[in-house]
Amino acid sequence: MTEFAQSDLSQSDLSQRDLAQSDVAQPSLAQANLARDTSTRDASAQASPADDSDKPALSVRHLTKTYAHATSPVLNDVSFDVPKGKVFVVLGPSGSGKSTLLRAIAGLEPIQGGTIALHGDVIDEGKPGRLTGRSKRASALRTRIGMVFQSYDLFPNKTVLGNITLAPTLVLKRKSSDVRDEAMQLLERVHLADRANSWPHELSGGQRQRVAICRALIEHPEVLLLDEITAALDPEMVREVLDVVLELADNGQTMVLVTHEMRFAEAIADHVILLEDGSIVDSTDDPKEFFTHPQSERAKKFLGSFEYKRHDSQPASDRS
Ligand SMILES: Nc1ncnc2c1ncn2[C@@H]1O[C@H](COP(=O)(O)OP(=O)(O)O)[C@@H](O)[C@H]1O
Ligand SMILES: [Mg+2]
Repeated sequence: MTEFAQSDLSQSDLSQRDLAQSDVAQPSLAQANLARDTSTRDASAQASPADDSDKPALSVRHLTKTYAHATSPVLNDVSFDVPKGKVFVVLGPSGSGKSTLLRAIAGLEPIQGGTIALHGDVIDEGKPGRLTGRSKRASALRTRIGMVFQSYDLFPNKTVLGNITLAPTLVLKRKSSDVRDEAMQLLERVHLADRANSWPHELSGGQRQRVAICRALIEHPEVLLLDEITAALDPEMVREVLDVVLELADNGQTMVLVTHEMRFAEAIADHVILLEDGSIVDSTDDPKEFFTHPQSERAKKFLGSFEYKRHDSQPASDRS
């Protein structure tokens, strides 16, 4: 797993032309009917080198993580399994440890306790004294775990196609014509084939995130980790990225995703956990029930924080 350098691009780089070419006319998430039947998902559609394994695609056991100079663990005895082809949604307030959890799974953060396994193959084991540096296995993991971050982390000096083909050709030494063909197929899938030769600064935020997803997919990750990938997008671009993620789920891609889009989480999740202060405080494989009738006080409080209510009860129309 390689962490790509973050570009210094921002949405202020968008030109009117780029905005006009993006699919901004799509319906907002709130208007969209996101209802879908997660039980019909075809797990066998996922291409994985360990397809014959009946072990969970990802198994996290007693994971404990403490940052250097911190007095208490940021992740505390976290355990869960993600079956192959399923979508695992991680919810939790800011600072609860969601990004740290994904980075630890990706081998970008050393862990001090517990194990992380892919299809039963332990890829990381906690070492109490190791507080800094990446997992020694991180480079071996790069083809097995893909990750897309919140920020647009494309290489600014590479075209869209160059961004997607760079690692497979340079690091994995795959045949460049094969990689290019596959990259074009992926770009077709995310409706960006016509932007293959564009530069990142010529794309909208939503388009850049779709390219970042292609860059992760070209390595055929057994597990794809998505960390708030729509959080920095303008609302009209959120939908185009979430549609791509929904399609990946329908094609059996195993995913762990952190999102603040609650309706999307409800539509896509097979399993939901709620993190608070680095511990799992709620966990369910009935996401519909979790979102519509949360049982625990913590879940109620967390989901309630997404509803906006005036503190004074005076309706706006009564104010003069
Ligand atoms: N590199 C770091 N060094 C020290 N503390 C960190 C680092 N990254 C995150 N933290 C702390 O760990 C906690 C969890 O952060 P994070 O995993 O980013 O939470 P979330 O993604 O849920 O908002 C926070 O208190 C944050 O300040
Ligand atoms: Mg985070």
